[in-house]
Amino acid sequence: MISSQSLPKIDGSSVQELAKEVKSHVPHRYIQDHREPTFVSTTLPSIPVVDMNDLIEILGSNKDELNKLRSVCQEWGIFQLVNHGVDKLLVEKMKDEVVNFFDMPVEEKLKYKLAAGDYQGYGQTILHTQDQKVDWADRFYMITNPVRRRKSNLLPEFPPILRETMEKYLEEVQKLAMYLFGLMGQAVDIEKQEMIDVFDDGMQSVRMTYYPPCPQPDLVIGLTPHSDAAGITILLQVNDVEGLQVKKDGVWIPVSFLPDAFVVNVGDILEIMSNGVYNSIEHRATVNATKERISLAVFFNPKLEADVGPAKSLLKNTQNSPLYKTLVMEQYLKEFFSRKLNGKTFLEIMKIKNDELILKVKLEGLTFVCE
Ligand code: OGA
Ligand code: NI
Repeated sequence: MISSQSLPKIDGSSVQELAKEVKSHVPHRYIQDHREPTFVSTTLPSIPVVDMNDLIEILGSNKDELNKLRSVCQEWGIFQLVNHGVDKLLVEKMKDEVVNFFDMPVEEKLKYKLAAGDYQGYGQTILHTQDQKVDWADRFYMITNPVRRRKSNLLPEFPPILRETMEKYLEEVQKLAMYLFGLMGQAVDIEKQEMIDVFDDGMQSVRMTYYPPCPQPDLVIGLTPHSDAAGITILLQVNDVEGLQVKKDGVWIPVSFLPDAFVVNVGDILEIMSNGVYNSIEHRATVNATKERISLAVFFNPKLEADVGPAKSLLKNTQNSPLYKTLVMEQYLKEFFSRKLNGKTFLEIMKIKNDELILKVKLEGLTFVCE
């Protein structure tokens, strides 16, 4: 048995490297105290599939399709998008380049290492307490838009093919996201112009994740349960190994990716904008005993100067009262990253309690943690 004490000295920055050394027992800091089990049943529900060709019919005012989209985002908050229109060759190239990135020697990857107190770069979960459990994965998170907010040592310093492929990919998925935002907004009476004002040229970020194989996969977690802070997320499973699970009606359900599909999920911000009609789905990633798993998530957010709150046109059109507070996006991000990832707890903070008025925090005088 290998105890954590007898492990070779490894810089704790790479679980990928650690996993090469750990043959049977994983170090204590990766063992989860109470991991909720996965739902095992022969009649597993699966996440809905949305066909982009059907969405196009909405533009021809097909109310049925619009209602379908609304109920998918309401009941699930996640779907597989097929026929999404992003060039297949580009998607394949993107996958290859992400694989190549994690294949680079650890010294190369550590050039992008997450600095203390930052949340952008290569590395692991930011530790909020000394005894906090660590996820069995290496991640690379960075802001990619606005371009002025790109950190000069991250995307601009990538190997050229990876950088070019990623820039092209991001451009394409951004267009797709804007299209989806328009329709998802329309389905809950948010005017298209408001979605454009909030999300066009909005804050965009990327997370590449490498989940190494693990000798004790049921004791660790690849990615802690959470909902995404974003408007929406477009997730690409890079190497056909599964691990994503969603929490539906209190149980964890594995997601089987369809070939060539993107998984799109509603994030907290769209739940807030829809005034609680949509559900930002809680999800997590499990790991595999023998195979590595790699994913690429792109998060689409409002502009940094936009308000994050129930959409004004929705409140006007429905006469409903706001159920969530309104915060400027830059402040919202600051608040989000200052907390430990923990299910949907941040959304609870945004909910208006009975005795509260709408809180509007002004940007002036606040410094942002990221730069
Ligand atoms: C994320 C995420 C899931 C996955 O990066 O927020 O949920 O399958 N990723 O890696
Ligand atoms: Ni996520």
